[in-house]
Amino acid sequence: MRNFPEACARLLLGQAKGTPLIALDLGCAVGRSAFELARRCSEVVGIDYSRSFIQSANQLKKSGRLTFPLCDEGKSTTPSCAKVDPRIKRNKVHFQVGDALHLPQGLGTFDLVLAANLIDRLPNPTFFASKVIPGLVKPNGLLLFTSPYTWSKEYTPQSKWWRDSFATLQKLLQPHFRLRHRQNLPFLLREHRRKFQYTFADATLWQRL
Ligand SMILES: C[S@@+](CC[C@H](N)C(=O)[O-])C[C@H]1O[C@@H](n2cnc3c(N)ncnc32)[C@H](O)[C@@H]1O
Repeated sequence: MRNFPEACARLLLGQAKGTPLIALDLGCAVGRSAFELARRCSEVVGIDYSRSFIQSANQLKKSGRLTFPLCDEGKSTTPSCAKVDPRIKRNKVHFQVGDALHLPQGLGTFDLVLAANLIDRLPNPTFFASKVIPGLVKPNGLLLFTSPYTWSKEYTPQSKWWRDSFATLQKLLQPHFRLRHRQNLPFLLREHRRKFQYTFADATLWQRL
């Protein structure tokens, strides 16, 4: 199946018009979507809460490759290497550690914003969707939200879980955005060589009013 972070970037770029485009990837992890966005954007900012993910993303930016142990089973691993497509201009991507709920002042506004599989990891998803997101997207800019809506007490207090998550997202975003597109976007998480988890994220693409 298609690589999920790549599919997110392609979905967003496929609907984007004009140049130059400046993009923000919130919850960018080790940067796969951010690098993919740089195929067409003049600048991409990737922000993640995890210092070690941002270190890995910066390693990929610097050398275009990152070695890592791929779990076979138990403690057995195979040395593996992730590589960024050499046609991507990696210096267009800037990674920083940050909290999506407390973003640095002066971050600016963006033509494209990606928040892939982030909301169900946040302690306050309603604040994020209703207060943070509208201030980040330029008029007519595009926002791609994806989530399997896997609410968990590990990340979000139960009082803050959404019930009908798509309806809640729509209610929160509708004052600022028009829904342009909605589809299932599957992803596969590998635990070890014989165990994978197959999930469908709800991908919704919004245009800023
Ligand atoms: C499920 S992963 C999704 C990664 C990537 N966007 C993707 O779709 O493959 C969630 C990511 O959000 C990051 N994250 C969690 N809470 C965050 C926060 N408050 N601010 C920024 N990033 C956060 C995690 O470190 C992790 O990289």
